Amino acid sequence: MKKITLLVLMMTFTTALIISSCQARGTELSDEHIEALDAARMLSQYIPLPALDEVRRGCPACHMLANEETGAYTLAYEAFVRAEARGHQHPQVFAITDEVNVTRCLDCHSPGTGERDGKGIVAPFSLRDIVHPAHNNSQYWKLKYGGNCFTCHNVNGIGEFQLLSEKVDVDEKGLPNPDKLPIPGAIPIN
Ligand code: HEC
Ligand code: HEC
Ligand code: HEC
Repeated sequence: MKKITLLVLMMTFTTALIISSCQARGTELSDEHIEALDAARMLSQYIPLPALDEVRRGCPACHMLANEETGAYTLAYEAFVRAEARGHQHPQVFAITDEVNVTRCLDCHSPGTGERDGKGIVAPFSLRDIVHPAHNNSQYWKLKYGGNCFTCHNVNGIGEFQLLSEKVDVDEKGLPNPDKLPIPGAIPIN
């Protein structure tokens, strides 16, 4: 809402500026000006910056079984669909409809060391190298869900990132339930 207000304010200000500068020169608004102003007014009313229905934290807050046939949108579904998009096949170690916890993904997608530096311990990619760009570069994720680092992370008392492996019980700002601390499913990252 704040963004929309700011946009409307900016547009009103620009309109006022254009009108006053035209009046100062004793000219009238050209058709082109009027058209641009009308377009701006339309946009300010209709730019769909969606309100968030709820703050979601932890993978299963979004990756749950929503379609029994396709498996959308379990973590298993994401694995199969994305491997296929590369023209490959994901190891069939779970069914597409299984609500697999992220800890299972890490069995193969934890970061490798030595010869596997920069890769996953078993898989070509570490999970972080998959999910960081895939979420943070998704306009849909940012706009629809207001996604950010704290969608998947908590920072603990000694400054370490933790991974939110379960759906977090949150208030309207995304703060965890004070009666359930430390956050259930907030696991250390290796
Ligand atoms: C707030 C909702 C939300 C949460 C929480 C979330 N995701 Fe996602 N995830 C999405 C959306 C939306 C996409 C699809 C993004 C797109 O393609 O625009 C996605 C895509 C993915 C993909 C596909 C990656 C690719 O290459 O396209 C994987 C894997 C994934 N998520 C894993 C995770 C894991 C693991 C977690 C928890 C650590 C997590 N997600 C938390 C919403 C979420
Ligand atoms: C048994 C090991 C194993 C497990 C467990 C595993 N993966 Fe994978 N994953 C792989 C391998 C191997 C590939 C590479 C497949 C290929 O490209 O040939 C892969 C590929 C992927 C890809 C495609 C990346 C790309 O763009 O090429 C995604 C996304 C993915 N896995 C996500 C997941 C998620 C999410 C989980 C947990 C639900 C998971 N994986 C569990 C081994 C595993
Ligand atoms: C979609 C979920 C998701 C989002 C969003 C996300 N991360 Fe992560 N992050 C992960 C996962 C998964 C790992 C790897 C966990 C593992 O390997 O055990 C990780 C690992 C990390 C680590 C490594 C921590 C360590 O101790 O090794 C850092 C640092 C980090 N993320 C920072 C960020 C920052 C900064 C942002 C926001 C710009 C962000 N992450 C957003 C899922 C996410």
